[in-house]
Amino acid sequence: MLETDVVIIGSGPAGSSAALMLSSYGIKNVIITKYRWLADSPRAHYVSQRTMEIVRDLGIESEVIAKASPKEIMGDVVFCTSLSGDEIGRLPYGMNNPRRATEYLEASPSEQCDLPQHLFEPILLSNGAARGSHARFDTEYLSHNQDLEGVTVKVLDRLTGTSYEIRCKYLIGADGAGSKVVRDLNLPMAGQMGKSGSMSIIFDADLTKYIAHRPGYLWWVVQPGANIGGIGLGLLRMVRPWNEWQIVWGYDIDQPAPELTVDQAIGVCRQLIGDPEIDIRIRSKSLWTVNEMYATQYAQGRVFCMGDAVHRHPPSNGLGSNTSIQDAYNLCWKLAFVLRGQADPKLLDTYSEERAPVGERIVKRANRSVRDFGPIFEALGLDGRYSAEEMQARIGSLMHADQAAADRRAMLRNAIEFKSYEFAALGVETNVRYKSTAIASVEQTQPLPDRDEDLHYFPSCAPGHKLPHGWVVRKGSKVSTLDLIGGGRFSLLCWLQGQLWVDIARRLSEDTNVVIEVIRIGPGQEIQDAYGDLARIWNCGEQACLLIRPDGYIAWEALDTTAAYDTLRQGLMRILSRA
Ligand code: FDA
Repeated sequence: MLETDVVIIGSGPAGSSAALMLSSYGIKNVIITKYRWLADSPRAHYVSQRTMEIVRDLGIESEVIAKASPKEIMGDVVFCTSLSGDEIGRLPYGMNNPRRATEYLEASPSEQCDLPQHLFEPILLSNGAARGSHARFDTEYLSHNQDLEGVTVKVLDRLTGTSYEIRCKYLIGADGAGSKVVRDLNLPMAGQMGKSGSMSIIFDADLTKYIAHRPGYLWWVVQPGANIGGIGLGLLRMVRPWNEWQIVWGYDIDQPAPELTVDQAIGVCRQLIGDPEIDIRIRSKSLWTVNEMYATQYAQGRVFCMGDAVHRHPPSNGLGSNTSIQDAYNLCWKLAFVLRGQADPKLLDTYSEERAPVGERIVKRANRSVRDFGPIFEALGLDGRYSAEEMQARIGSLMHADQAAADRRAMLRNAIEFKSYEFAALGVETNVRYKSTAIASVEQTQPLPDRDEDLHYFPSCAPGHKLPHGWVVRKGSKVSTLDLIGGGRFSLLCWLQGQLWVDIARRLSEDTNVVIEVIRIGPGQEIQDAYGDLARIWNCGEQACLLIRPDGYIAWEALDTTAAYDTLRQGLMRILSRA
């Protein structure tokens, strides 16, 4: 029987990144996927700064940047009546907003970008395979059985029609929104699937003349009479500038799913573009549903689920693929430590504890963002009570030079600004705080955020937070604090006065067989806080130190060196569930 340490079901962003991470940490793994290749359509595009930090740690950031469209191309989110028609308003996307740019720049060494899923997945999987993953295409997960020592996974080779078994120590279910692994485990789920229906059309058309002078990657087209719950709204989305596009168009889920011919699809594209003559080549059409569902528990025994398998929601906020990759980043170092015998298997319980609240939060956020279009419709007078002609007239009346129109224009400006909760929600992406036994000092008082937590990033060096980014100097070159940590290892950060921490961490590494990368910062050291960034973020005396997990989360801190060896040892043992 084929044997390995970890079997991963599914090669989407969750599964492919898990394969890459495990291989990078030296863990044997087999990744299987049902189809002959990876995603065949663009799906997820938006790559957040946090995900870019993770691919930076994995050493593939430059490859991602080379294939992605940069933030400048993502430009503005434009609300319009068609691409060639009237504009209703614009909102700069994320870090393109001058009022928010500094906040994004301060938050991370990496920039957000746009990389369609069918181009991202091959980067993740090929790097995983180059580092040791065994990838099996045309291979379908059928069932699994777990016992005290491991898991036996039954799979089907779809090319030959033969089934066979793989024996592993742990199984990862990254098999998407229809997850059979989740069903087989009967994981508890909350929420509802199939809240509304959506149709995607992928097509080629040269839209340069409509876009190049006002770059953007999301165009919301409001067309009265078009079909989404009685209110016309379609999304035109850039896949590649400016020749490849995707349209997302709603349909009534209580009616039979629409069957769209190629000619009808071309008609929809031309309608949203507002150019009846434009050349269109349809690449593909597909139907999918908007869901609001999340698992309240991500694991059972030796089986762990991640990605859309455990959080299912609409594309709003671009959270799906990003969160899926972050799930993998949380789990994989823990699996590596347990498999190498450096942590007790109880550490794996913290995966569900830490990630399930994140899943619930993003599912609710993404669905709220769909509802948050309401005020825009209201300002436009599109509340479904009027005929298409009446609604068109109401949009047109925004141009009137009277007080009623001025009031609606003010309402519209506020309603569009409110969509920052979808298109510039830096806080949702970055304020992910963990509370579990893998954070040794959670009982400490947590600092309270001073701004809206969904919109704004709240950096903190308290345990449970991700180590904030700041610029430091290493051998003369400017690097991020995040470049000092990661690589699958624990890191200990201390100041010039922290020589005791250096000695103790080395002793502890030998005593516990856990590598701790010690970073001592100060004049004359390899790393210098030349800009004072770290001192600003980490407001403490020079005797303090931070212990940082391989996924960049601060797991423990000491403010002085009292009983240094014992407290650090206790902290590390607790984090690794060895206490
Ligand atoms: P995903 O569904 O991608 O992968 C599942 C994998 O499991 C596939 O490889 C499949 O073949 C495999 N599989 C399933 N059953 C199997 C079986 N029985 N045996 C073997 N293999 C099996 N997200 C984001 O972060 N930013 C964005 O901008 C967007 N935008 C966006 C737009 C649109 C139109 C859509 C529809 C979605 C998005 N998303 C997004 C969401 C994103 O696409 C989604 O969250 C991720 O694909 C989820 O990744 P997973 O790896 O969890 O599942």
